[in-house]
Amino acid sequence: MTSLNDATSDQRTAIVTGAASGIGRAIAQRFATEGMAVVCADLNAAGAVKLAADLSAAGHRALGIAVEVTDEASVAAMAARALEWTGRIDTAVANAGVMVEGDILSISLAEWNRALQINATGAFLTARAVLPHLLASPAGTLVFTASTVGLVGMKGTAAYSASKGAVVALTRQLAADFASRGVRVNAVAPGAIRTPLSESQFRARAADDAEFESLLQQVIGRYPISRWGTPKEIAEIVLFLASDRSSWMTGQIIPVDGGLLELR
Ligand SMILES: NC(=O)c1ccc[n+]([C@@H]2O[C@H](COP(=O)([O-])OP(=O)(O)OC[C@H]3O[C@@H](n4cnc5c(N)ncnc54)[C@H](O)[C@@H]3O)[C@@H](O)[C@H]2O)c1
Repeated sequence: MTSLNDATSDQRTAIVTGAASGIGRAIAQRFATEGMAVVCADLNAAGAVKLAADLSAAGHRALGIAVEVTDEASVAAMAARALEWTGRIDTAVANAGVMVEGDILSISLAEWNRALQINATGAFLTARAVLPHLLASPAGTLVFTASTVGLVGMKGTAAYSASKGAVVALTRQLAADFASRGVRVNAVAPGAIRTPLSESQFRARAADDAEFESLLQQVIGRYPISRWGTPKEIAEIVLFLASDRSSWMTGQIIPVDGGLLELR
């Protein structure tokens, strides 16, 4: 196993938001197996605590805590708890997010605000809370979970796309501000990944199980690598961006999308 701890002999600490489910869960698991101390943070506190307990039982170092990423005090408390736990924050993954479907004529202002609040403001608040501590790390890294729809236009996701576009711009902007100060900032842009988020999107559209399965199949038809992606396949790239293996990369938005964006 390759250790992340190239720049220091001490174990590094990572915070992952949205860790109770899907992609965030896979990232927290991958960081833990890589040897990091992992703070699993989620609005679903029970899910975060359960994941941390499972990781601890498997011999890893993990802490499960509640966070509401739209609440500045809650995000500050998350960072404070991580510091109290190990005395350091080396990596943060701002991953918590929600899907809001619909074109601009079909969504309400409340739905627009919800997407922007959780996906964009949540990323901003998470970054702002951890950056002072990443600056104190020998090799601080910040990784955002963006989306392919933050990079190109796709039908029916006006608010979600705008929120992920904000994450893409924030990634580049923070990278510019912090590159010379020792903190690298990058993002992963997943394509269609089978998780509760994507499944609920198609469940809502389908009248029954057969239509649900048919909608899932239609998605596959758009992908050059003709299958859905898995959370583990995103976690592997997030680990790379979080580690010293990507030490000369910052400000990058990395599509992990079965070839969708480049091979259309
Ligand atoms: N699944 C996909 O196809 C896909 C594609 C591109 C990008 N993404 C992005 O990946 C990230 C993870 O998505 P996923 O598919 O794993 O979804 P998921 O629904 O499986 O997990 C999201 C997690 O975020 C948590 N969360 C939601 N709102 C929160 C809040 N306000 N505060 C704290 N935690 C909150 C949820 O409780 C949940 O555990 C999201 O940012 C999503 O937009 C997903």
